[in-house]
Amino acid sequence: MTESTAVASASAAWPPGVQRRQRVAVVGGGAIGTIVAHAAHRAGHKVTLCVRSPLAEVTVEREGAQERLSLPAVTRPDRLTAPVDWLFLATKTYDTQQALGWIRALTGPATRVVALQNGVDHQERIGPLLVVGELLPALVYISAERVSRTHVVHRWGRRLVVPDTAAGSALAALFAAGGSGGVDVVTAQDFTTAAWRKFLTNVAANPLTALTLRRIGALQEPRLRELARGLLREAVTVGVAEGASLSGDDVEQTLDLYAAMHPHSGTSMLHDRLARRRLEHDLITGSVVRAAERHGLAVPLNQAMLALLQTVEAQNAVEALERRPAVA
Ligand SMILES: NC(=O)c1ccc[n+]([C@@H]2O[C@H](COP(=O)([O-])OP(=O)(O)OC[C@H]3O[C@@H](n4cnc5c(N)ncnc54)[C@H](OP(=O)(O)O)[C@@H]3O)[C@@H](O)[C@H]2O)c1
Repeated sequence: MTESTAVASASAAWPPGVQRRQRVAVVGGGAIGTIVAHAAHRAGHKVTLCVRSPLAEVTVEREGAQERLSLPAVTRPDRLTAPVDWLFLATKTYDTQQALGWIRALTGPATRVVALQNGVDHQERIGPLLVVGELLPALVYISAERVSRTHVVHRWGRRLVVPDTAAGSALAALFAAGGSGGVDVVTAQDFTTAAWRKFLTNVAANPLTALTLRRIGALQEPRLRELARGLLREAVTVGVAEGASLSGDDVEQTLDLYAAMHPHSGTSMLHDRLARRRLEHDLITGSVVRAAERHGLAVPLNQAMLALLQTVEAQNAVEALERRPAVA
């Protein structure tokens, strides 16, 4: 592997803000966890993967080239004693509570916990789980898919957007070490608006592709495009009530973004439905509906999406039970 070369050259010159090789733990060896672990490893840091079942090696596929990544992987938080400098939380949001053991074992007063999950409510969801340490929410502009347990396809993007704080700058320095270029970190002064803008990219595309079992190109069909526009308009109204500086332009820009994407692109919710995994509808559509309720706003289209997604997921759960072999 070429990995050892990258580590050696990276450790020769730490950028300002990174005084030494950092101890990094990544909770969740799925799509995003693998890409970020790979980038931190290439930047020369000491990376441990925290996983639910043993994982010896992962193949990362990017632009047709494949790279094998072999990192220390641990399966039990009670085997860990020392806090890390950086903990990256890369589980799906519905698994955050199950990741609590890792958070408690690996977080000390100086640990920065980077939430790599989608959504606009990182602080409300994850903040209360930290007894010590500092939470750093990150907006993930990376598209990756775990096509098997040991194979991750990195489709596009390498940007993380974080608040413009000391922790945000430290994260930029972490990945800049050695000039490895695996992940770019950008800081945003108005993180609330940045988070809602990123969230808008999920608000229409994820439920519509997951419910129709169609790819992103389907959103160019007039009826679906109008439905997407309606979902986005509702979300913009809610985002403004939550303090984001959004306008009707954000609706049109998000629709333009969908139009610019490769028509065969999927969304994480579509991939999850096709793979019969749970859906993050509570994080996406559920967040719009809950925030609308807090502000007394009507979001009938998002409410309808939520009801349909909940029905699909309930049906998936029944089918999963039916597929289980009967106990004699
Ligand atoms: N994929 C993307 O392109 C993308 C883009 C932007 C944002 N995001 C966001 O990033 C987050 C992660 O998504 P993803 O696509 O990387 O999901 P994923 O591929 O399903 O990976 C999630 C991983 O978390 C692991 N996990 C769950 N509970 C755990 C626990 N208690 N301890 C250790 N590991 C645990 C799972 O383990 P098992 O292997 O045992 O199931 C799985 O490997 C989500 O919030 C998603 O919305 C994803």
